Amino acid sequence: MAIIIKTEEQIKLIRESCRRLAIVHKELEEMIRPGISTREIDIMGDSLIRKMGGIPNFLHYNGYPASICVSVNDEVVHGIPSKHRILQEGDIVSLDAGMIYKGYHSDEARTHGVGQISPEARKLIDVTRESFFEGIKKAKAGNHLFEISNAIAACVKPYGYGIVRDLVGHGVGTKLHEDPQIPNFAQIKRGPKLRVGMTLAVEPMINIGRADVEWLDDDWTVVTEDGSLSAHYENTILITDGEPEILTKC
Ligand code: MF3
Ligand code: CO
Repeated sequence: MAIIIKTEEQIKLIRESCRRLAIVHKELEEMIRPGISTREIDIMGDSLIRKMGGIPNFLHYNGYPASICVSVNDEVVHGIPSKHRILQEGDIVSLDAGMIYKGYHSDEARTHGVGQISPEARKLIDVTRESFFEGIKKAKAGNHLFEISNAIAACVKPYGYGIVRDLVGHGVGTKLHEDPQIPNFAQIKRGPKLRVGMTLAVEPMINIGRADVEWLDDDWTVVTEDGSLSAHYENTILITDGEPEILTKC
């Protein structure tokens, strides 16, 4: 367990990886419409990442078969794109994509509505995003990691949503997943102290219903056990002495 403090030079490259990734996400968002297949989104994502000078870091990661994770409705994360999975009006879809740029990883996820979505679905997406911003208010050098987790959990709690516990945020750098793990639910242990130069992916995954999830037989797709909708919001951030820098932001 060692959290890597990045040098100025490394931070520049991670920042650049993240900046390019944010552009990919913006372009993917514009593709979202009823009638498109999740495979088409993956193909476009792969080509946009490469066009931006990156390599899709999810492709072949532990055997993952695509460049983007596209998770629809009750799918929490790691949905495998398919030409048979067609987005419908009213769906919500989470796009998770990252890249390697000059050896440095970036990681970002967003949940979008497809056409008109229900007020309940909108609320879930909005609260998931808000919980990220509540969490990173605590993401400051000198604070402890658990303050991020607890702030996310405190934000979500009044809504009665389920906070996914089986998947967590993580450090990002020369590897997609570095220490520390960053849970989105309340912690008892304070965890490590945050320091200037840590680069972290903070990524609440929130279900309208219960927190429990299960894995489908494809060994990747994580779904809510109760079939309820799930949303995801993730940015790679840099810890500083003041407010964190959100690196995956347009
Ligand atoms: N983006 C995911 C994460 O946040 C990682 C996906 S890896 C893949 O940790 F192989 F599933 F694509
Ligand atoms: Co991540």
